[in-house]
Amino acid sequence: MNKITIAIDGFSSTGKSTVAKQLAKYLGYVYVDSGAMYRAVTYYAMQNGLISKDDFNVEALIYQLDNINITFKFNEKLGFAEVYLNNENIERAIRTLEVSSFVSKVAAISEVRQKLVEQQQKMGQDKGVVMDGRDIGTVVFKDAELKLYMIASAEKRAVRRFDELIERGDQVLYEDVLKNVQERDHIDSTREDSPLVKAADAIEIDNSDMTLDEQFDKILRLAKMTI
Ligand code: C5P
Repeated sequence: MNKITIAIDGFSSTGKSTVAKQLAKYLGYVYVDSGAMYRAVTYYAMQNGLISKDDFNVEALIYQLDNINITFKFNEKLGFAEVYLNNENIERAIRTLEVSSFVSKVAAISEVRQKLVEQQQKMGQDKGVVMDGRDIGTVVFKDAELKLYMIASAEKRAVRRFDELIERGDQVLYEDVLKNVQERDHIDSTREDSPLVKAADAIEIDNSDMTLDEQFDKILRLAKMTI
């Protein structure tokens, strides 16, 4: 069967990764969470004292970019690839609200984007990939055969993210999660380099009132029509 590239973009917590994982599993494709790569760089910056609430040493981060090696290893039990930073599994560590509070600032740096986009394009060069993020259909894979643009209200998205964080045992307030979602929406869509915009040829999916099954059925139908 012909293999295609599927690009899924949208604001945070629009359910991109859930449907991307489902789709990759069903089609036997590779799933790449590009947001995890920006989170990995952010985690590196935090661990090395380059970013905090009051300070961000952008130059030092750019200087140290070559020290950052991001890889994915498939976890059979989980059924998806986990992200590693310099051989350390950071899959859980990068999902905190603290990493979320810094990541959009890190992702706005062109040098960071250049490094990660290059790696993402290599990962998708043989097609058969589902990648989700903010600039996949507009920058990383402009020629992707199927482009989806997911939307949902900020409140619905914040509830989803809040539930995820509570379920994994993090102590967070809903107000803080909502604030973070709104802040990231703003930075991600107004930054100069590769802002989040809907690609002209992307199909918009509003999943505010869809169940996961409804969403998967709809997107799988679109994928089957494209392949
Ligand atoms: O997808 P996720 O919410 O984990 O992404 C975290 C952050 O990484 C986003 O808020 C955005 O700032 C950045 N990002 C990006 N480009 C991508 C994927 C993520 O700028 N392709």
